Amino acid sequence: MTLPGSPHLAYRGPQLFVEGRSLNGLASEFGTPLYVYSKAAMLDALAAYQRALSGRDHLVCYAVKANSNLAVLQVFAQAGCGFDIVSSGELHRVLAAGGKPEKVVFSGIGKTRAEMRHALEVGVLCFNVESESELEVLSGVATELGRVARVSLRVNPDVDAGTHPYISTGLKGNKFGIAHERAVATYRRAAGLSGLEVVGIDCHIGSQITDTTPYLDALDRVLDLVEAVEAQGVPIHHLDLGGGLGITYTDEVPPSAEVLVRQLLARIDGRGHGHRKVVFEPGRSLVGNAGVLVTEVLYLKPGEQKNFCIVDAAMNDLARPAMYEAYMGIVPCARRDMPATRLDVVGPVCESGDWLGRDRDLAVVPGDHVAVLSAGAYGMSMASNYNSRGRAAEVLVSGEQAWLVREREDASALFKGEHLIT
Ligand code: LLP
Repeated sequence: MTLPGSPHLAYRGPQLFVEGRSLNGLASEFGTPLYVYSKAAMLDALAAYQRALSGRDHLVCYAVKANSNLAVLQVFAQAGCGFDIVSSGELHRVLAAGGKPEKVVFSGIGKTRAEMRHALEVGVLCFNVESESELEVLSGVATELGRVARVSLRVNPDVDAGTHPYISTGLKGNKFGIAHERAVATYRRAAGLSGLEVVGIDCHIGSQITDTTPYLDALDRVLDLVEAVEAQGVPIHHLDLGGGLGITYTDEVPPSAEVLVRQLLARIDGRGHGHRKVVFEPGRSLVGNAGVLVTEVLYLKPGEQKNFCIVDAAMNDLARPAMYEAYMGIVPCARRDMPATRLDVVGPVCESGDWLGRDRDLAVVPGDHVAVLSAGAYGMSMASNYNSRGRAAEVLVSGEQAWLVREREDASALFKGEHLIT
């Protein structure tokens, strides 16, 4: 059986392996629920971007929100990656993992003054600014500190990325970016404010995009703006085309990063913009298929309308199914020679929305482990303590080696910082 996404996840006989380690072995060693990541899968995914970009002034800024574990950031930092952050917390993580501030772009529509100060003090590469009021506040903070904030404006190209409405960001009705019609005037304003230096333009149209067309449409709209802005005497050095490339969860067939980037570069060159630095902010496509969530089958509960497979991972560990009705593959960590049953795979949380997979055919018995696939992105980074469940442990595998890169939360971690009243 081939599994979506990564050659580093495969059955050897009945046992499912991530690189050189069996998931059942890791589950016995570290317990469940357990996130397991393949270092090789992450580096392969990055290499696809780097191959297409070689020989060109570029920066791949890994979108930290997809998976912010320090060891994951460390792997990317060591591979020369930059980072796309959306909070001071993410900046702290990047620096703790050995990332370089001069390779960090700071995105997000609601940066606070304190976050701006932090980013200016450490010297990030660029702020992706999303509104005129943000520009004014940033100018004030930078001037007060006696620093210069390099800025890109995130423009809203008004294209439909054809993805889930919650993760689509490039349409007019979205809260993101500066409207296309306002962009030139806003660039003029930026160029006139103290403490700011305009360096680039930025767009990000959504996530889990499986087609190159919306990217090319957005790029055309962005290049139109670059030409209009430069005609006003404001030079633009870099083009940041955001993240958003989709992965295979089930039967999606997204373009490879290499194909996408090559097509975008060809359009950039074709329109005479080949001298500009290009920046990408991929998250999901670098880590999504590099991770699985291993969980233990606690009970099988046959029902009149549905059979339930109750596992020890829940919506607090992996929110994507509950939140977006997202499909995530679920497979046994060791295959059994017995007929499969159609089941809903659900967690212990007291909500009917707490499911990980519906109508799945699985041959499992209590005590078995199953792996939720493609869980490397927006899995652990969206986990919560709902139902006072400690968050899962995380393990990073490289070949035969496995490091515990985040400890399982115990009771003391659960109410750290809370106080009884006197
Ligand atoms: N840049 C910006 C400005 C973003 O807002 C995002 C993601 C990215 C880059 C990275 O996008 P990616 O390459 O990962 O698609 N929780 C949702 C996805 C939310 C994406 C938010 N922004 C999910 O689980 O599907």
